[in-house]
Amino acid sequence: MPKEKSVKLSDKSKPTVKPVTEERKVEPAPKAVAVERKAEPVKKEAAKKEVTAEVKTEKAVTAEIAGKTAPKAEPAVAQKAMAEKPVKAAEKTAAAENPVKAAEKKAAAEKPTKAAEKTATAAKPAKAVEKKAAAEKPVKAAEKKAAAEKPAKAAEKTATAEKPAKAAEKKATAEKPAKAAEKKTTAAKKAPEKKAIKESEPVKAVEESKPVEETPAEAHNATPRRSVAFIGSECYPFVKTGGLGDVMYALPKALVKQNCDVKVILPKYKCIPWEYQEKMVYRGSFQMDLCADGRSFYVGIMEYVWDGVVYDFIDNEEFFSDGNPYTNLVDDIPKYCYFAKAALAALNYMDWIPDIIHCHDWQAALVPVYLRTQFVNTKLTTAKTILTIHNLRFQGIYDIPTIRYWSGLPDHVFNKDVLKVKYKDANMLKGGLAYANAITTVSQTYAGEIQSAYYGETLDAHLRYHSGKLRGIVNGIDYDIWNPDTDDRLYENYNITNVLDKKKENKRKLQEELGLAQDDHKFVIGLVSRLTNQKGLDLVASILPKVMDGHTQVVVLGTGDRNYEDTFRYYEGAYKGDVCSNIMYDETRAHRIYAGADALLVPSRFEPCGLTQLIAMHYGTVPIVRETGGLKDTVEPYNMYSNMGNGFTFDRYEAGLLLDAINRAKTLYFESRWCWDEMVQRDMDKDLSWEKSAKQYKDLYLDLTR
Ligand code: ADP
Ligand code: GLC
Repeated sequence: MPKEKSVKLSDKSKPTVKPVTEERKVEPAPKAVAVERKAEPVKKEAAKKEVTAEVKTEKAVTAEIAGKTAPKAEPAVAQKAMAEKPVKAAEKTAAAENPVKAAEKKAAAEKPTKAAEKTATAAKPAKAVEKKAAAEKPVKAAEKKAAAEKPAKAAEKTATAEKPAKAAEKKATAEKPAKAAEKKTTAAKKAPEKKAIKESEPVKAVEESKPVEETPAEAHNATPRRSVAFIGSECYPFVKTGGLGDVMYALPKALVKQNCDVKVILPKYKCIPWEYQEKMVYRGSFQMDLCADGRSFYVGIMEYVWDGVVYDFIDNEEFFSDGNPYTNLVDDIPKYCYFAKAALAALNYMDWIPDIIHCHDWQAALVPVYLRTQFVNTKLTTAKTILTIHNLRFQGIYDIPTIRYWSGLPDHVFNKDVLKVKYKDANMLKGGLAYANAITTVSQTYAGEIQSAYYGETLDAHLRYHSGKLRGIVNGIDYDIWNPDTDDRLYENYNITNVLDKKKENKRKLQEELGLAQDDHKFVIGLVSRLTNQKGLDLVASILPKVMDGHTQVVVLGTGDRNYEDTFRYYEGAYKGDVCSNIMYDETRAHRIYAGADALLVPSRFEPCGLTQLIAMHYGTVPIVRETGGLKDTVEPYNMYSNMGNGFTFDRYEAGLLLDAINRAKTLYFESRWCWDEMVQRDMDKDLSWEKSAKQYKDLYLDLTR
């Protein structure tokens, strides 16, 4: 049965969004809008019970998957995670001894407790609203305008929500090649042909669209050209809640320099600042069948071109009119079923058939599943798919009837090899991982870790099974946005030659702005983070009093779980003048903390890659990190004998070890400043750009499309 959302949606009529045809402009001043972070899904139980069943039957799926999947029955499992949890270790031993038995027993013993889980998942995520963005007039103006433009609503045809069980299969046959609508942009390579699927048949002729900008001058790379569609749920500067937004912006830009045509497909959320919305150009619209009972939805395409990258926004007010991209699973599941299918249908509609479809996180994970089922008879079927895991904790899990209804996917994908988990749930990320031609994640260490039970978020067996197509490629940072020499949000710009003096000035001004004691002899520790369980904040909270020695200041910037927000507020009061807790989302403040702090804390429980330690290093701020995921891959621990390294690290998830790392940093800072200063310069000198990693992605694209 579809849940509340289906009722809610069925009450709404179909919107027709008025196209904005205003001329687009390029190079807007980047400005992020801050929104709530993904609702943290209910922690799923260790799914060992499903594990072995998957291993036994997944070959069937693999057969369907084009490309070079090389599944291994018993792949190597990640390294040191094991040491960290004795309880987990015990579980692992049991499973290793007889995984089939263990899984079966556990499955038999367990009863799903969905109702409770769902209530929890529907709970509101913690707020993360940027003050400035909220205060901004253009957004208001956009809202007003949108409201004014609301078309008369047509009554929804069927009270469809009640009957999710209805067959979805008929759609597969309906999705036949139809007709072409529009010329390809200059960025697209392939000759325009007739249109493919029913979903993408234009409702009306596509309006005159501006030609896409020419290939940028930097596209000098000698490797063969490839076209890539990026599909994901957020992208700086339009909408960003964390590192995914940074990557969706920076990687396409870097790929353009690797001789790629890139189109980024995003939802057109209402919260995208008006300064961008008003520059979008209408590319067309159509009706798309979505649900199992054939219920269809409007899909509009709005385009914006910037820095050689084409951004196509999927427009539908029913799904994307919340203030934030992520609200709760009840709303988010239908939203991202729609988005995944609409993204493919839009490509078909535009007749832009990319070589590669690169999907990001669970919100885009159904794309490979749709491509190999409902779109199998379209031209898009030649494309190879990649699914990048930015954070395995978020998977898009809900009961099968709801996901089957909203996705309209055929019954056969709701099996243990693809979408099914536990007894009656479907996991959208799992399905995407099964069908994608390649899986990547954002660091090599995390690629190994997620194949272990401790970090695997119940998908470790699935990932082990698909390990032949899994690899880690570490993130970089965008050197145009993150450059202390040109960053106009800083009090003082600096580079490697004058960092030691200028950093002091940035520090003093930061202390002044935040109401801290102005004293450049104090050791300032920054923390810029979502305040969630992932980020190791319980460790920070438990040792903070021991860190506060009269010579140290702590600056926190973040939003998230209420208990962490309150804890840091409490410490601000307890250590007035030395602790400042900025419970907010504020890009400018983040930049100033990276520049003004001496060290940046990232003690994460797990960290797929982590960008804050990269930004910190580039700003000459020494990272103090836990050795996990990308933190381990990017921060070489300081070695006092060789006087080498980039930061201070600790391994096990223990407060004492974090405290020890902070104390080691302080000792170097206060007692061997010249060594510290050398590390600052070494960090600024380190190559953290996207170039190397973009090359690796390009190699992967070439491998898949050889
Ligand atoms: P995650 O994606 O898990 O949140 P990352 O380290 O990959 O972590 O990326 C976090 C990004 O979000 C960085 O660009 C960081 O500067 C930014 N960020 C996090 N919290 C805030 C905040 N409260 N205000 C401004 N920027 C923030
Ligand atoms: C996720 C991860 C983070 C990573 C980011 C971008 O949100 O938590 O570690 O850097 O995605 O890939």
